[in-house]
Amino acid sequence: MGWATALLFASFLLGSIPFGYCIGRLRGIDLRTQGSGNIGATNAWRILGARWGCGIFVLDFLKGALPAIGGLHFSPALSVPMTDLLGSLAGLAAILGHNFTPWLRGRGGKGIATSAGVLLALTPWAFLVVLGTWASLFLLCRIVSLASLGAALIFPIATGLLYPGRSVLLAFSIFASLLAILRHRSNIRRLIQGQESRFGRKNQNDL
Ligand code: G3P
Repeated sequence: MGWATALLFASFLLGSIPFGYCIGRLRGIDLRTQGSGNIGATNAWRILGARWGCGIFVLDFLKGALPAIGGLHFSPALSVPMTDLLGSLAGLAAILGHNFTPWLRGRGGKGIATSAGVLLALTPWAFLVVLGTWASLFLLCRIVSLASLGAALIFPIATGLLYPGRSVLLAFSIFASLLAILRHRSNIRRLIQGQESRFGRKNQNDL
């Protein structure tokens, strides 16, 4: 039990490292005051350029994938529901660490890249569906937040269909999806008002 608690704590700590913020600061820019104000890979790409955006995506992705892998392979003696539970909780701890990082007084990112890492580790088949949904929506509309919202909505459906009987994974997928949607409240508002940034285009409503 003590080791499991340590794993969850370490997952939260890893998730809480605000790579986007730190790299932005190293480049002399506070991402919280630029573009959408988000510290994630999309805003980093927008403000710092493609190279930094990609790098921050990879780092944020890994800080979700590694804890979930740690939970899944915690002990070979555990049953499938138990490994699902540990993998899900470790992944969730990393996502919560990212979204509510104590290093920025709880004002972290939206958790899409970190959630994607968790999905690949926990539910690789659902990850492929989610990735396909994200890519299709992005190619159609060039709006990252809309693609992320569509992907978040599809995730629990894909998990339910592709992992029948894995109720822990389904519960995780519903929670992660709701969390992602809630973190996109400002994007949803801008989408409704027709003011959301299209990728590669400067938006007057950006901060
Ligand atoms: O991953 C976050 C993305 O869905 C939206 O980012 O910067 O446009 O709010 P942003």
